[in-house]
Amino acid sequence: MKSLVVINACVRQSDSRTLRIAEPIIKTLSRRYHVTRYDLPEMDIVPLTPSLYAGRGQGDIPAWAKEAASTLAQADRILIAAPFWDMSFPAVLKCFFEQTSLFDITFTDNGSTCIGLCKAPKVLYITTRGMDIPTGSEWEQATPYIQALSRLWNLGPLTTIAARNMDYSTEDEIAGKVARAVAEGTELAKTW
Ligand SMILES: Cc1cc2nc3c(=O)[nH]c(=O)nc-3n(C[C@H](O)[C@H](O)[C@H](O)COP(=O)(O)O)c2cc1C
Repeated sequence: MKSLVVINACVRQSDSRTLRIAEPIIKTLSRRYHVTRYDLPEMDIVPLTPSLYAGRGQGDIPAWAKEAASTLAQADRILIAAPFWDMSFPAVLKCFFEQTSLFDITFTDNGSTCIGLCKAPKVLYITTRGMDIPTGSEWEQATPYIQALSRLWNLGPLTTIAARNMDYSTEDEIAGKVARAVAEGTELAKTW
């Protein structure tokens, strides 16, 4: 069975609209993939501190980060669920990437530039946005960041599933947007 890594950065946990969209899609995918899941709000993930940075120079890397980096490098698919925060995604997701973007695991170099060592040919990013901001707008800096990191790591094309204007919609409208995003994702999951 091929492997899927799920990175859940939905800080509001069970209240999260993003997770309401992501969970049924993950469930559908779990029929075809062995799922390894990182629920970031339940992990004590910090940015790279001076001592962590110094340790990294000595090859002293937290075991969880090394293992997660290897799992990401070997994954056949990667799914990221993260709400739209401050025109991007929650800081805990950047901290996770900072800890797991590791030389000679997710990328290396050839003496003149960096080369990705990951192999997942497809990445799926699921999000909800408070404002009415479409994917690809210059106001939306999550998708471009994930695309750039995908370049560094040698990941394949990114698909973004987004529901928007969530903070200015009625409960009924929100339910409809969530249902449409779930339908889009579960349809995609059949062949993704
Ligand atoms: C800390 C925080 C920052 C946010 N920043 C933005 C923002 O910059 N732009 C925006 O459109 N919505 C923003 N929102 C609204 C969320 O994107 C929106 O409510 C989304 O549906 C939340 O997803 P969730 O239910 O999965 O947590 C923010 C919400 C929070 C809690």
